[in-house]
Amino acid sequence: MTKIRKMAVVLSALLFLLTSCKETKSMESAQEPTKVLPSLKSSFANSFYVGAAINESQIMEADDKGIAVINREFNTLTPENNMKWMYLQPTPNSFDFAFADKYVALGEKMDMFIVGHTLVWHSQLPDFMHSIKDSVAMADQIKNHINTVVGRYRGKIHAWDVVNEALNEDGSLRKSLFQQVFGDEYIEYAFQLAAEADPEAELIYNDYNLWKPEKRAGVVRLVKRLQAKGIKIDGVGMQAHWSLVGPTLEDIENSIIAYSELGVKVLFTELDVTALPNPWDAEGAEVSLSYEEYEGDPQMDPYRNGLPDSAQVKLAKRYQDLFKLFLKHEDKIDRVTFWGVNDGGSWLNGWPIKGRTNHPLLFDRDFAPKKAYTKVLALKEKDKVTYNQTTKQ
Ligand code: XIL
Repeated sequence: MTKIRKMAVVLSALLFLLTSCKETKSMESAQEPTKVLPSLKSSFANSFYVGAAINESQIMEADDKGIAVINREFNTLTPENNMKWMYLQPTPNSFDFAFADKYVALGEKMDMFIVGHTLVWHSQLPDFMHSIKDSVAMADQIKNHINTVVGRYRGKIHAWDVVNEALNEDGSLRKSLFQQVFGDEYIEYAFQLAAEADPEAELIYNDYNLWKPEKRAGVVRLVKRLQAKGIKIDGVGMQAHWSLVGPTLEDIENSIIAYSELGVKVLFTELDVTALPNPWDAEGAEVSLSYEEYEGDPQMDPYRNGLPDSAQVKLAKRYQDLFKLFLKHEDKIDRVTFWGVNDGGSWLNGWPIKGRTNHPLLFDRDFAPKKAYTKVLALKEKDKVTYNQTTKQ
């Protein structure tokens, strides 16, 4: 995190603590003293932002429990789906900003660092985009979309995932619709347009499996390519859809260092840790994958009635190890965002096998903090934490 921003975050956390202490004091005479609860955002305030992707019902403030957790724990937000191209511009030049406007208003009300996700991605595109066959028409579409969307939220959305998932696993350029119709330089084009539409916004390249050495080399090549052309790119977002056993901390660390050496920020943009077995060798988050043959297979869905203690402990250890690594490199890392608020809302209940019961986040289906939450906070709060909220041990 930049120094100024870090100071601002620390100051607001201090203010919050002071206000809470004041309230606590005035209540003391009347009743039992109330302990100030730690939270992710206050505990990590001098290290990096901590956030969550939020869904439509949270954006609409229809999910009371979710909203309470979001307010208490996070200082950055990402819209899980509502700002993807198919929702913002379902038919040519006809934009629907209803949810995006609500999302930004909610972020402002909660004083969040507001992320826009995502401008140019081959998934979740409207049908009309697939009928575009020539580079001039594609350029027009990209330009219109970025100018309209980034322009509308200029000064309000603080960071954009400008291009999402442009690389193959071997680090080469994915033959996506954009690459095929426009050519390799659609990436430069998108970043340039975004920079012009909001010169202040932080511009991010976002992708999964960015811990992989070959893919890492691809990102390094890509960022250098943009930098050599004088095109603004501010950060690399590692999605971080991970498991209990992989990727190794060493691979993650090597990527943090490699990206930071390019002079850009490192973000963990979509963190979750699946607690379930997966039927394939490949890791990552290829959204088009689906394994229908495993639907309803109890072996693939062992924790329908809750995560047993032994698995809670493993999840907690994994999260603690990850956050320990993040803290070691806090000078390079600007934000860590979970992909969802609680287990019930996680996309991993439906991907890559539909209808499972996954437990990949820090808050359970009742929005209660899990042991993993306690272990992550403990890294910062070692001696001073008194937990007076129910944690699942
Ligand atoms: C996922 C959402 O969580 C799902 O609700 C949706 O059905 C598919 O997309 N990488 C990304 C995210 O960048 O936008 C994806 O989100 C998960 C993988």
